[in-house]
Amino acid sequence: MKRVFRWGLGGLVGVLALGAAAIAWLDAADAPPSAHPRPVATDAATIDRGRYLAQAGNCAACHTRRGEPPYAGGEALHTPFGTVYGGNLTPHARTGLGAWSTDDFWRALHHGRSRDGRMLTPAFPYPHFTQVTREDSDALFAFLRSVPAVDRASTPNALAFPYNTQLALKVWRALYFRPGTFAVQPAQSAEWNRGAYLVNGLGHCAACHGTRNAMGATIDDRSFDGSTIPGQGWYAPALTLATEGSVSAWSVADVVGLLRDGVAPGTGATVVGPMAEVVARSTQHLSVADVQAMAVFLRDLPQRPPAEAPRARPADTRTLDRGAKVYADQCATCHGERGEGQSGVFPALAGNRAVTMADPVNVVRVVLHGGYGPSTAGRPRPHGMPPFGHVLDDADIAAVTTHIRTAWGNAGTPVNQVQVVQILAVQP
Ligand code: HEC
Ligand code: HEC
Ligand code: HEC
Repeated sequence: MKRVFRWGLGGLVGVLALGAAAIAWLDAADAPPSAHPRPVATDAATIDRGRYLAQAGNCAACHTRRGEPPYAGGEALHTPFGTVYGGNLTPHARTGLGAWSTDDFWRALHHGRSRDGRMLTPAFPYPHFTQVTREDSDALFAFLRSVPAVDRASTPNALAFPYNTQLALKVWRALYFRPGTFAVQPAQSAEWNRGAYLVNGLGHCAACHGTRNAMGATIDDRSFDGSTIPGQGWYAPALTLATEGSVSAWSVADVVGLLRDGVAPGTGATVVGPMAEVVARSTQHLSVADVQAMAVFLRDLPQRPPAEAPRARPADTRTLDRGAKVYADQCATCHGERGEGQSGVFPALAGNRAVTMADPVNVVRVVLHGGYGPSTAGRPRPHGMPPFGHVLDDADIAAVTTHIRTAWGNAGTPVNQVQVVQILAVQP
């Protein structure tokens, strides 16, 4: 009986999927550009606004290669399905957006289609940018048309079959993508709504923080429930869990500090890895009013009850002794004998949820590769954490991360050598 029911359900899902795919075939030409698109604005005020919006959307992160001209494209993005490349967004007539109209650009942002109608891969966060208003889209385009044109052909994507086909994208989009408009929540304040617009739209925070299904789609009602970033060796913590990255118990000032300066003064929390890049390239440039609005929205995200404490075998005494010794020799000078840190200089490791989080990948990565916080106006020269990947072997890394996750009342789980080797195998 149960089995028949399962089959029935499976069949139903299959029929629905086929139906959705068929609908996608039908809407193949959604919103073709009109014959008379709005002209591109050339006034300084619109261009400035567009520049600001480009920072809010962190367009440069994926469309600028280190050391090359801004927005000329070529930056590689590793996904579980292969590598894709952000294209040339400069106004070059042949290799950039020089021949595009405001309608073409809107179609890319809102519908995820290129000028020739080609469906774009969702590594370009259009499932989030679809919420951007037409007015903001036009301002963004006005700005991009004002940057120096660079002749640089876009690098072709290198996706594995079948992900490199338009049919696969068609089915994916039918299942997981709807062009959307930002819906104002009238019960909420104007500030909350502004924050929601920035976080869900241009900020595309859920592109990293949203839980994904096996097809790489963020799951609608789990937009902030945390995720291993696809193709990269980092975990973006749940913004809905007090034990991970939630800010619901933080003051607005702390959230603003984290996003603008890279450190929350009241909690001592810092940002590392991909989040340090987000702060460095995007959020630090936003106005205090906008970041405050984001903070109001983020603090109000519905919270989940704390996950059950993970059950793990405690580490053996040899590992614990070894970890304590490595810590005393290598780490205590900065982070303190008892992991207390040094306020404003070196983060405390005792009572630090970034250290004890269920998924140890970020901690191991920080110890292996070190890192700097973002350099920001509020904190221009942050102290750096030295890399230990060359100083310590895998067993030492496992032992010292186990030590900091379990000492001084920290209730994290041990890390073993196999986990360290697995984390090393993924190049961020
Ligand atoms: C997380 C990385 C990422 C970010 C952030 C990003 N893009 Fe992209 N973008 C891509 C990738 C990858 C592609 C290529 C997709 C493809 O070829 O299927 C792309 C494609 C595009 C295209 C289509 C180009 C063409 O030739 O068809 C436009 C337009 C575009 N992006 C604009 C923007 C703007 C504007 C922003 C900021 C608001 C932005 N992108 C932010 C990754 C990104
Ligand atoms: C490219 C991926 C990526 C994007 C985009 C991203 N984050 Fe993060 N975020 C991370 C990672 C990884 C961490 C964990 C490392 C850390 O704590 O700095 C993190 C951590 C955080 C934390 C927890 C900080 C702490 O110390 O407790 C907050 C809050 C946060 N992000 C908010 C945001 C907001 C708001 C946005 C959108 C403006 C955003 N993130 C966009 C990857 C990302
Ligand atoms: C020279 C000083 C110094 C030494 C030595 C040092 N650290 Fe750090 N560590 C830092 C600084 C500074 C940061 C903050 C980096 C940032 O803001 O991105 C940091 C960050 C960290 C973090 C991330 C904390 C968070 O909240 O995300 C961990 C974990 C960590 N260190 C562990 C260690 C371990 C384990 C050792 C020894 C093997 C060690 N550190 C040695 C200076 C140091």
